[in-house]
Amino acid sequence: MRRVTISFYAAALAVLTFGVWWVPSASSAKERSGSSGIPPEKAAAYVYAVIKADRTLYTTEIVNRLQAKGVTTASEHWEQENALMLPAQFLQHSGKLAAEDGSGVRYRLIGLWPIYQRNAPASDLERNGLESLRKNPDLPVTGIVNSGRKQYFQAIYSDLAVSQACIDCHNGHRLSPKRDFKLNDVMGGIAITIPLE
Ligand code: HEC
Repeated sequence: MRRVTISFYAAALAVLTFGVWWVPSASSAKERSGSSGIPPEKAAAYVYAVIKADRTLYTTEIVNRLQAKGVTTASEHWEQENALMLPAQFLQHSGKLAAEDGSGVRYRLIGLWPIYQRNAPASDLERNGLESLRKNPDLPVTGIVNSGRKQYFQAIYSDLAVSQACIDCHNGHRLSPKRDFKLNDVMGGIAITIPLE
C-alpha cells in the first residue's frame, strides 16, 4: 500500500480550521508511532471524521437549535438576510478556507444532480465514484489524482438524505435538476483530496 507522511502539517491545518487547538508536531508523532507515515486511506478517513462531526454539530446545535428557539433561521442567502449559512454552505466555505491555506488538503460536497454546476463531478474519478456510491453507499471510493507534477489521493464518501429537510429543499430548489429525491437516497458525496509526497 502506498504510504504518505500525511503532512501532519495538513492534518494540523484541517484541525485548526475546525478550531481544535491540540496540534502534535510531525517529529514527535513519528517518534511515538515508529512508522514512516499514515496510509492515505487513513489520513482521508481522519479528515472525514472531523468534517462530519463539525457538520453534524453545526446542523443540530446551531442551525436546528436556534431555529427551534425562534432566534434565527438558516438561509441560502444568509449574507443578505442576516441569517445563518446552510450546513452545505458551511462545508463548502470551510473547504475553501482550508484550500487557501496552502497545505494541499481539499474537500467539497459534490453531486450528480447539483444545485450549482460548480458542485458537479470534476473528473472521471468523481463521476464514477458518485455512480458507484449510489449502489454501495457504505464503500468510499478512492483513487490517485495527478495535478501538474503532483499526486494526490482522493476519497469520496456518500452523502445521504438523512432528513426530510434535505429532500424538501433540494426537490424544491429553483435550480435543482432533480426533484424526486427520497429519504436515504445518496444525494452526492464528500470528496477529500490530500497530497501524496
Ligand atoms: C435549505 C436548503 C437545503 C437543505 C435543507 C439541504 N441542502 Fe444540500 N444544498 C443546498 C444548497 C443551496 C447547496 C449548494 C451550496 C453551494 O455550493 O453553494 C447544496 C449542496 C448540496 C450538495 C452538493 C451538490 C449540489 O446539489 O450542489 C449535496 C450533496 C447536498 N447539498 C446534500 C444535502 C443533504 C444530504 C442534506 C441534508 C442533510 C442537504 N443537502 C440539505 C441546499 C440545501
